[in-house]
Amino acid sequence: MEQSPFLVRAIVPEEFASWEAVIGASFGFDSRPEDQEVWKKRAEFDRYLAAFDGDDMVGTGGALTFSMAVPGGTCLPFGGVTAVATRPTHRRRGVLTAIMRRLQEQGVERGEAISALWAAESLIYRRFGYGVAIEGCSLKIERAHAALADDRPPAGRLRQVAGEAARAVFPGVYARATKGIPGTMPRGDLDWEMYFYDPEHWRDGASAHRYVVYERDGKPAGYVIYRQKEAWEGDYPHSEVRIGDLQAVDGEAYRALWRYCFGIDLVWMIKAGSRRLREPLVLLLKDPRWLQQSRVDHIWLRLLDV
Ligand SMILES: CC(C)(COP(=O)(O)OP(=O)(O)OC[C@H]1O[C@@H](n2cnc3c(N)ncnc32)[C@H](O)[C@@H]1OP(=O)(O)O)[C@@H](O)C(=O)NCCC(=O)NCCS
Repeated sequence: MEQSPFLVRAIVPEEFASWEAVIGASFGFDSRPEDQEVWKKRAEFDRYLAAFDGDDMVGTGGALTFSMAVPGGTCLPFGGVTAVATRPTHRRRGVLTAIMRRLQEQGVERGEAISALWAAESLIYRRFGYGVAIEGCSLKIERAHAALADDRPPAGRLRQVAGEAARAVFPGVYARATKGIPGTMPRGDLDWEMYFYDPEHWRDGASAHRYVVYERDGKPAGYVIYRQKEAWEGDYPHSEVRIGDLQAVDGEAYRALWRYCFGIDLVWMIKAGSRRLREPLVLLLKDPRWLQQSRVDHIWLRLLDV
């Protein structure tokens, strides 16, 4: 096997800011100390690798240990590949290749059967043995056409809650709503902490996260997290509702939450990202043609243990 000219090794916590700077330099953002504080808590430094050209850190790539539900009802531990970046000065010289090789070796050493990731670009990972395992989609629908075929009020009640209250309720709902669905991943405390991190510079001019819980028989049965982006075109409201996540333990709760999202006033467009490819919403709409769905590759997966 060809030897890489770049030294690849795990970083130490003191190098985390430099690691983030490399990621920022290739993705195009300025890494902020307050963000780093949050990421650092979840970091796994033995799996966070960097490539060096002399003393200069020129590439990064890491893995975070998760588990994923797979067909057959089990959950497999795996390294979720993340933070893959090469400084623009060093691109196409094998930096990524050297890091990926080591990340995959580490996965094998840990006895992990799979490795998985979300790809920034779809041409990068096939050469490293990954293929699309799960497809997803983003949705959008004009509110004027977002009527449900069955528009009866839900059986339970909806409550808008603050972040702290949401933090207490969402994990239990998420666990029930996603249990056993292939491709879903149980989340730990630190994953939830990152989920609820909502700094202003991530909002793209929209509101802070809104958290709404659906309760039935006194128990949480679903939630939605979204932002509102206010806009006007002349005298006409042109605002958006941007749904970040919507989870429901059953069909009744699912309908109640979409009905809520469609009912928010002054909204022109409702958008949702990272949804399932076969999102059941289309079956609930009075006029499904107006639901625009864009398919996207979602989870890329590679077998390590064959
Ligand atoms: C993607 C990225 C990490 C590639 O790093 P790199 O060090 O240039 O990659 P390598 O030199 O090891 O390339 C290995 C091979 O993959 C190909 N490749 C790498 N990135 C590619 C891309 N974005 N599109 C198509 N092919 C790509 C290279 O051409 C090379 O092909 P070859 O073996 O036939 O010569 C780098 O371009 C980058 O930092 N991009 C911005 C951040 C990003 O998209 N990260 C991915 C996050 S999921």
